[in-house]
Amino acid sequence: METGTHAELFKLLDISAEDAQECAALLATPPDSNVQQALDAMKARLGTYPVESITAVDAPEAAWIEALLRFAPLVHAYHLELGIEPAVSAASLADVGLQLRINRRVHGRFGLDTWGWLTLHMAGNLLRLGRLQFHLVPAGVSASGWVLGVHIPEDGGLSPALVDGSFAEARAFFSRHFPDKPATVATCDSWMLDPYLSEKLPNSNIASFARRFTLDRCTDAPTDAVYFTFRQRGLQDLEKLPRETSLQRVVLERIDDGGTWQLGHGHLAL
Ligand SMILES: CC(C)(COP(=O)(O)OP(=O)(O)OC[C@H]1O[C@@H](n2cnc3c(N)ncnc32)[C@H](O)[C@@H]1OP(=O)(O)O)[C@@H](O)C(=O)NCCC(=O)NCCS
Repeated sequence: METGTHAELFKLLDISAEDAQECAALLATPPDSNVQQALDAMKARLGTYPVESITAVDAPEAAWIEALLRFAPLVHAYHLELGIEPAVSAASLADVGLQLRINRRVHGRFGLDTWGWLTLHMAGNLLRLGRLQFHLVPAGVSASGWVLGVHIPEDGGLSPALVDGSFAEARAFFSRHFPDKPATVATCDSWMLDPYLSEKLPNSNIASFARRFTLDRCTDAPTDAVYFTFRQRGLQDLEKLPRETSLQRVVLERIDDGGTWQLGHGHLAL
């Protein structure tokens, strides 16, 4: 499949090699009704600061991939209209390519089982600044104002210096581009904030990241730590997984001991 026609789009979304071929094939025919529904749902949300992914459209995974590809240029244009630097917009949208590569590791084939996550980016309010992603959303029913949800894309180490830099960039960026939506708090909901992890690997980058946040509560999330450490969905065949790094050992040993991994929900003052 010829991918040259879409060179600019694939560069924006950081899609290459076999994934570019597959994406070009999806774009070779006009959008069907599933794709159109997905496009309509994303269009309705662009610029509206939604908190949740799109769940109301019952389209197959391939339709979502095609719709995300077709919609991303509109999000890029929206970012530029807001005065956001093209490089920041591209870094934010490059999660599409990253998630396609991760899908190959998880399932061994072209696909995007995290398409729902990417529908958040398509509303225009999830931006990558340096090492981290920030999701500007209303604070919620019990509080007024705005918060930045923090997410950690897979991209090498998470040194404290990189995290400091990313938060510093976010503070300046959001007050410049979204002055009417001031966020004074950042939140994080992640397996990385499970206190068990900081207890077992106190000197790790993950623990140092978690310590920035005040832990509000924890909820069971039995499969998250396995997914993010091994890129495996589910808890089957754990004995086949490697125990090479300290994190791999900690994740598996807790399950071996009958424990359950959790999501830590935390916040920090910006
Ligand atoms: C979060 C992340 C960037 C941390 O990487 P890091 O800075 O290298 O982590 P640390 O320095 O704290 O690592 C401590 C140990 O765990 C290992 N480790 C960290 N992440 C690992 C991973 N994803 N898989 C296997 N081992 C990992 C390190 O190699 C190190 O092992 P060692 O002590 O044997 O040398 C990395 O785990 C990652 O990319 N995760 C996927 C994204 C993610 O989980 N996002 C949050 C979603 S809610």
